[in-house]
Amino acid sequence: MNVEHWGDSAWGLNRGDAMTVEANYLYMTDNLLDPSHVAWVHQTSFGNAACADDVPDTTIADNGVIVSRWMRDTEPAPFYQPFLKFRGNCDRKQHYEVRYPSHAIIKAIFVPAGTGGDDKPLHQDVFLMDSYNFLTPINENLTRYYWFQMRNFAPNDQAVSAAFATSVRTAFEEDKAIVQAVHRGMNNKKSNNIDLKIDKGPLHFRKRLAQMIAAEKPTLVAAE
Ligand SMILES: [Fe+2]
Repeated sequence: MNVEHWGDSAWGLNRGDAMTVEANYLYMTDNLLDPSHVAWVHQTSFGNAACADDVPDTTIADNGVIVSRWMRDTEPAPFYQPFLKFRGNCDRKQHYEVRYPSHAIIKAIFVPAGTGGDDKPLHQDVFLMDSYNFLTPINENLTRYYWFQMRNFAPNDQAVSAAFATSVRTAFEEDKAIVQAVHRGMNNKKSNNIDLKIDKGPLHFRKRLAQMIAAEKPTLVAAE
């Protein structure tokens, strides 16, 4: 996989970490295709109330699914605030992309309010963070989760890297708690699922991945 900006002297690297999640890996891919979850799961870090409203776009690609949205003129969420070069409200883009079989590229863009948009050049004070997430299934009920992040500022600042590492770990522990609860809840559910409009991306991802796994099975049997 190509990691954009890897080795770029203007970009900083948070080497990241890993954790074991007691849940099926597909609940984590669901989570990483739902940008709205930050409004509820990460109120002290990646999200705030402003993140509850805007409806995302879903893009179906050959190698995965992208769910993204711009949020306009909103207060920056707490995690990002200390690192922004501008003050006041922001336009924020969330780009949530999961590729087959199970790795995610989550991009965060923050620019001063009024300057954001896919059709506009990035503002000179733009904050960019690309988060790379790798989900390795151990079995049906356990997943090993690895990650690192790239940032477009403070390339050699160890204090910034340490702050990122701590904050990201804390936020991902929040994901872990929710995803494990979802896994337990779905295993013990007593009613049918209700799929919402925002489930389009995760549902497509699951369906296509299941097709790819099914397509590989005859080959595996034949090779034995
Ligand atoms: Fe999350």
